[in-house]
Amino acid sequence: RPQLLIDTDPGVDDALAILMAHAHADIAGLCIAAGNVGLGHTVRNARTLVDLLGSPVPVFAGCATPLVRAAEEDAAFVHGQDGFGDIGFPEPASALADESAALALLRLTRERPGELTLVALAPLTNLALALRLDPTLPLRVARLVVMGGAVTGHGNTGRVPAEFNVGFDPEAAHVVFEAFPAFDLIDWEVTLRHAFDNAEFDDWLAAGDRRADFFGKIVGAARRYNASHERSGLIAADALAMAVALDPSIVTRSETRAVAVELDGRLTRGATVVDWAGRLGRPAQARIVLEVDQTRFAAMVQRALGAQR
Ligand code: BDR
Ligand code: CA
Repeated sequence: RPQLLIDTDPGVDDALAILMAHAHADIAGLCIAAGNVGLGHTVRNARTLVDLLGSPVPVFAGCATPLVRAAEEDAAFVHGQDGFGDIGFPEPASALADESAALALLRLTRERPGELTLVALAPLTNLALALRLDPTLPLRVARLVVMGGAVTGHGNTGRVPAEFNVGFDPEAAHVVFEAFPAFDLIDWEVTLRHAFDNAEFDDWLAAGDRRADFFGKIVGAARRYNASHERSGLIAADALAMAVALDPSIVTRSETRAVAVELDGRLTRGATVVDWAGRLGRPAQARIVLEVDQTRFAAMVQRALGAQR
């Protein structure tokens, strides 16, 4: 089984990704970032998920703000004010570890060099901080898989070409993209091409176990938002990134290119700039995932919801 260390800001699609990780891999820890909603909510949501999973996955709280500039927006309008669809879950029972996320990233990768796949499903603040503390971190991880960016400029934030995770903390994404010699990038645009049919997804929710009941509750607000904004199907960015983390052979089309982050632009701060034509002479570090096997992706999600026949 893959061994994962997950940096996340749960978040509805983060939750689905974590359910997938639990079904198909071992989770060494959940490092929590601010992003979709504030850190208090994302930490609490992670603990709610750990309660649901019923296994002792440690939760490490990370940075409450981006590295340099204050964030311009969160994503509560999609995920709910509390990040989990405003259901009003009770206070979780599982504990919060007494170590901050960046330090836990460094410690766990030192204890298990070369073993862990790092899966980044949130603004990259914790990971950037860890890299500034110890630039040798990339040498100790088996792989890095990042959900972030919009490779041809079709973003999902108020800044047109910026995707949320990169746009929330562009400096952090810059640090991570410069530091890792190789990583898989699952951007917002590939996510849109791999949405699930709504009726099909409802069948999985109906056929699943308590994980499906839980996810069916928290995804309601996001589905209503997407439907009212003409986004077709169930979009689950972090779940797609998790599928690639769990099984890289699911990727059917990709291109490896140098990717940088715009930090200054008046209209473009937070955009990912892809050197498609190789003009910058920089090493191509990002394997940009362009297509995955949708049937296998669907099977992974079904199993994570307890809905596989
Ligand atoms: C990313 O932003 C968040 O809203 C989602 O959880 C995902 O990680 C998509 O742009
Ligand atoms: Ca996320």
